[in-house]
Parts: sequence; structure tokens; C-alpha cells
Amino acid sequence: MGAALALGERGRGRTTPNPNVGCVIVADGIVVGRGWTQPGGRPHAEAMALAEAGEKSRGATVYTTLEPCAHISTRGPACSDLLQLAGVARVVVALGDPDLRTNGAGVARLRDAGIAVDLGLGAAAARSAMVGFLMRRQHGRPAVTLKLALSLDGATAMGSGASQWITGPQARAHAHLERTRHDAILVGRATIDADDPTLDVRLPGLEARSPRRFILSRTPDLHHPAPDCALPWENLAAPDAIGTLQAIDTMLVEGGPTTAAAFLSADLVDRLLLYRAPIVVGGGRTLPDIGLSDLSEAHGSWAMTDARTLGSDRLEVYERVRE
Ligand SMILES: NC(=O)c1ccc[n+]([C@@H]2O[C@H](COP(=O)([O-])OP(=O)(O)OC[C@H]3O[C@@H](n4cnc5c(N)ncnc54)[C@H](OP(=O)(O)O)[C@@H]3O)[C@@H](O)[C@H]2O)c1
Repeated sequence: MGAALALGERGRGRTTPNPNVGCVIVADGIVVGRGWTQPGGRPHAEAMALAEAGEKSRGATVYTTLEPCAHISTRGPACSDLLQLAGVARVVVALGDPDLRTNGAGVARLRDAGIAVDLGLGAAAARSAMVGFLMRRQHGRPAVTLKLALSLDGATAMGSGASQWITGPQARAHAHLERTRHDAILVGRATIDADDPTLDVRLPGLEARSPRRFILSRTPDLHHPAPDCALPWENLAAPDAIGTLQAIDTMLVEGGPTTAAAFLSADLVDRLLLYRAPIVVGGGRTLPDIGLSDLSEAHGSWAMTDARTLGSDRLEVYERVRE
């Protein structure tokens, strides 16, 4: 299942509206098929792995990070049908599919056909890998990551507004990698005015993975820098309008502090990426009020899931703890 999860990562940020599933087929202890959801969402991971395994899938065990789909679409057959036709003996599934067209029906169809099904192996990792797909199905909005570059004293910019650069090249390269894992990036209007960022991906080989770009602004139909530029900017009028965005299941909010606070106040941040540089700024710009009336409200909201050193900077990753 670990190998299937790793394959699923290849599709991260490229498969919306479908989930980035990974699949491995094992026969007699040997991997005979590998698949992951292809850009745009099709073929599905299981279909790709079965195509590679061919006849070797007869009697094999399939590891897949999401319940095989039960619905026939105009874009392809149901994976639960493909698995039956291939004659697999056992399917190990990390996570049930909340999509109402499947939602248990995929597992039921496999079991009805005499295929052994085990559910739950690697469920937590699968949930984290497909967080955008799950958030869209369960809460009707994209999963939101907030990225901030901070000084040791919590400044996002100097008092003058200058913020290029707080962190070093390794941290900035990591932030570019994060961009490739999201369907969209958003910054506030004042960040555009101050920094004129391109917000594209400039990692060698990954330039084509730049996500859609949004400006948070109350000014409707804002076009920046020009309506006809190759990668146009789109406008978002308020944080809670993210649910209306089509084909966006994951969004990376890159500041500035007013925008960060607006998303935090609306409780729309699911993951925090804090890149902390070993500098003290003093008198810098920090986050404005996010509507807390007591410190006790701040405690227990975030759990650290990762921490690492990037050059001379430190990255801390937190996930929102919700009941
Ligand atoms: N360290 C970092 O990680 C980082 C990242 C990015 C930027 N920065 C720095 O941060 C500074 C800019 O940040 P900032 O806080 O001044 O501004 P900002 O967050 O970039 O943009 C503020 C603008 O966003 C729009 N906005 C904010 N809340 C909104 C809401 N609830 N609904 C609709 N629109 C909303 C408004 O645009 P309209 O006025 O058009 O309505 C507002 O003027 C710059 O100095 C930049 O260099 C630092």
C-alpha cells in the first residue's frame, strides 16, 4: 500500500475533479502492474495497473488507495467491473470513496463477485494524499493550504512592506514544489501591488505544472497584469467564495497577512506551511486580528505533522484539528 500511495503522489495536483489514486498489483510476490490516476482524471489508477499486468492479474492481489469506482461514465468503464473481468482474487483498499456513485457500492460489487476485499490499510495516509477530493465531496469546497514566510519574530515583511526575500533558495524551491501539488494559488491584491509576483513554477522540468492563479479582491473583474497574458489571473471576491470555483479541489494561499487573516478568520485553512528564516526583523508586519476573544480559543487548533530544515530555514507543517 505504501508503494500505491507513492504512485498516487505522481498525480497530486493534476487529476481534479478526480482523486489522485495509486494502485499496485501483486502476483506470487511480484509487482506485475502499477498505475496512478492520469492528468485530467482518466484513465483511473486501477485501469492503468490492470493494463500493465494483463493476464498476470488473474488470481492476483490489488492494492489501491481508494475504493474502486462502481459507476460507468462516458469517460470509461467502472474499475470494479474491470477488476472482476481481470479475475483478481483479492483487493486491499485504503479508503472508501465518498462519491455517491460509489460510496460502498464498489466494495459490494467486488464481494458479490467472490473477490476478497480488505478495507482500511493506510487509510490515514490516503486521506491526507486525497484531501482536496475528500474536502470537495464532504464540505463542498477545496482544501486550503496557507503558506507564510516568517522571520523569527513572526514578521511577514519589514515595516516598509519589503518581503523579498525572507527565506533562502531551498525554502523557496520547496514552496514551488508545493505549487505543483495544488490546483490553484491565491494572493491578496496588495501583494500583487507590492511584489508583482509571477506565482508560476520555476523548477526545472516542472514549469508546465503552474496552477491557476487567483487574486483576492473586492474589485470585480480585476485583470492583472493584462487580460491577454498567457496565464491569466482570476478574481476571488471573498474567502468563502472558494466553494464556487470549478475544477479546483486544492488551493494554496500565499499571503499577504491580511489575506491570511481573512482565510483564518473564516476557518478555511486546513494546512499551514510556515517557512521560518533565522532573521529578526523588528517592527515588521505580522498577521492582523483573526477574531479571537480569548487565548484558550487558539489552543488545540493545530497539530504539527512535519518539520524539516531547508538550507538555513526551517519548515513547519501543521494541520487544522477539527472535531
Ligand atoms: N512573508 C510572506 O509569506 C508574504 C507573502 C505575501 C505577501 N507578503 C507581503 O505582505 C504585504 C501585503 O500584504 P497585505 O496584508 O498588506 O495585503 P494582502 O493580503 O496581500 O492583500 C490585501 C487585499 O486583499 C483583499 N482582501 C483582503 N481580505 C479580503 C476579504 N475578506 N474579501 C475580499 N478581499 C479581501 C483586498 O483587496 P481590495 O482592496 O482590492 O479589495 C485587500 O486590500 C506585502 O508587503 C508583501 O510583500 C508577505
